[in-house]
Amino acid sequence: MNNSIAEILQKSAFDKTDIVALLSAKAPEDGNKIKRRAHDILIDQCGPAVHCRGLVEFSNHCVNDCRYCGIRKSNPAVHRYFLSKDELLSAALFCAEAGYGSIVLQSGERRDEPFIAFVEDAVAAIKRETVSARLPRGLGVTLCVGEQTEETYKRFFAAGAHRYLLRIETTSPALFAAIHPASQTITTRMECLGSLKRAGFQVGTGVMIGLPGQTVEDLADDILFFRSGDIDMIGMGPYIPHNQTPMASIEPAFVKNKAFELALRMISVCRIVCRDVNIASTTALQALEPDGRELGLEAGANIIMPQATPAGVRRHYLLYEGKPCLDESAGQCRSCIEQRIKSIGREIAADGWGDSRHFRNWGKIASTTI
Ligand code: 5AD
Repeated sequence: MNNSIAEILQKSAFDKTDIVALLSAKAPEDGNKIKRRAHDILIDQCGPAVHCRGLVEFSNHCVNDCRYCGIRKSNPAVHRYFLSKDELLSAALFCAEAGYGSIVLQSGERRDEPFIAFVEDAVAAIKRETVSARLPRGLGVTLCVGEQTEETYKRFFAAGAHRYLLRIETTSPALFAAIHPASQTITTRMECLGSLKRAGFQVGTGVMIGLPGQTVEDLADDILFFRSGDIDMIGMGPYIPHNQTPMASIEPAFVKNKAFELALRMISVCRIVCRDVNIASTTALQALEPDGRELGLEAGANIIMPQATPAGVRRHYLLYEGKPCLDESAGQCRSCIEQRIKSIGREIAADGWGDSRHFRNWGKIASTTI
């Protein structure tokens, strides 16, 4: 590690040693330089506007048993729910009226035909019902419903969804195996990311930061993976233990500030290395710090996902502890987000799907409504 942080920041291409140095720089002045560079690239590549995706967590039924996740199938304490199509549609209409431009439909994982048909049908209905003068092609729909077959992904795409989030969680095969049961493999996850691309989706992925046993070298590999994998969106957040999961008892104990600071640094370094991608400032940041999402935006993120899940079921979708915004109405979340974004001198993008410049640069879509 011979280069100073200032020298590394001058570069336009970064190798693993550079990325490790950026992720592990401790001196406050180096931290500030990294943050400033990320911010400059953000403004240059994406502009100051923040795109909102209304987040609707429509079901917590899950066939998986991820060792970190609060809604894993063998957690008996979870009250399971599934929103009706009408409930989902009213949440979508709220998002369209609130000016969000896009919606993220997220759920626990299921691969049975009734589930697939429900998602397909709900996406088509949302697309149909949200067309307006402001949104001539309806709400942008992002799906986050896990590992599916390529054929299923094609059905979802044909129904009108155009972005898909599937986190790789970690690109370290050993760490992936340690945090999942044997039935879930990193190979399948990678194959799914390929299937999503072939099905036509703009693909988002991401990792958890601060997992027990995770090193900065692992995180540097994750960033190299985002860059080489032609990823359009990155959604990452700190790992936060949930006390009803097997991983909650693992040592070393969770250190909140460390996980939080590392998550912010990851956002900045991803912005510096991947440049024109969309990066989300995720809810998990706000679970650790009240102004966590604003700090994520300042660190280099340009996407935020305001809660639009009906308030009555939000507390049943607890992936980790300390999830914020459990009791507010979707309308209150809208005003709160707007005020938070204004407080840091940024603004909400007016309508538009907010596809990443990375995607548009590659000419994969004619033009967006932005
Ligand atoms: N801490 C942080 N993130 C978590 N997720 C699941 N459980 C946790 C946890 N305990 C994240 C995973 C998953 C996404 C939907 O939520 O990265 O892909």
